Amino acid sequence: MSSELWTSVDEYVEDVLGLADPVLMSAQQAAEEAGLPAIAVSAAQGRFLEIVARMVGARRILEIGTLGGYSTIWMARALPADGSIVTLEIDQKHASVAAVNFERAGLGDRIEVRVGSALETLPRLAAEGAGPFDLTFIDADKANIPAYFEWALTMSRPGAVIIVDNVVRDGAVIDPESADESVRGVRRLNEMMAANSGIRSTVLQTVGVKGYDGFALALVG
Ligand code: SAH
Ligand code: DHB
Ligand code: MG
Repeated sequence: MSSELWTSVDEYVEDVLGLADPVLMSAQQAAEEAGLPAIAVSAAQGRFLEIVARMVGARRILEIGTLGGYSTIWMARALPADGSIVTLEIDQKHASVAAVNFERAGLGDRIEVRVGSALETLPRLAAEGAGPFDLTFIDADKANIPAYFEWALTMSRPGAVIIVDNVVRDGAVIDPESADESVRGVRRLNEMMAANSGIRSTVLQTVGVKGYDGFALALVG
């Protein structure tokens, strides 16, 4: 098994299913031209997020970690006309690139980008009575995943889904002694999910153009 093969299969899937449409491609191109890191979800993963959003009948979606808005656009496509997404981003440059991408995608009126540390914008959202959210996608700094998961839980409706990206980390997640703050954040998430009898959780390993990683999924009871 090689990561080259994983990438080739992702390219094949993207091609055979016609996942690379012009709007998404120009969003990626704008992010690349602005010098943003190439760490957005893959097209196949974006479609997965869209499908989950449709499965839960999502009308309100929360995203933590916008980057250039690629994953946001995928999820926005699942929304009904009166649906909306709030996406949180610490980096003003990323947020600006994303905002232009949303306008170009014709989604500007349904997506709100909030700039700031999610540790600050999440309590503010909660205080405003935002949500309840039907789907939350956690994809920002990994050390703070436990805090983001707690906030997502408090703003989720029963039946909501919370998805967390990058929870396998080339398998580094299995090291209980890891000093890596990202690994520690992910391991703490798993312990929190295990201890919470009100949710059903799993971790799915993934390979592909993003390497060897995985998603955590939690169904809020
Ligand atoms: N969800 C995006 C990728 C997000 S990459 C996609 O798949 O298209 C992670 C993003 O989280 C980066 O843009 C980074 O600036 C942002 N981020 C990092 N720390 C953050 C924090 N404390 N609060 C909010 N956003 C943060
Ligand atoms: C990184 C962040 C991500 O969310 C991701 O999916 C891949 C890589 C990173 O910070 O390197
Ligand atoms: Mg990610």
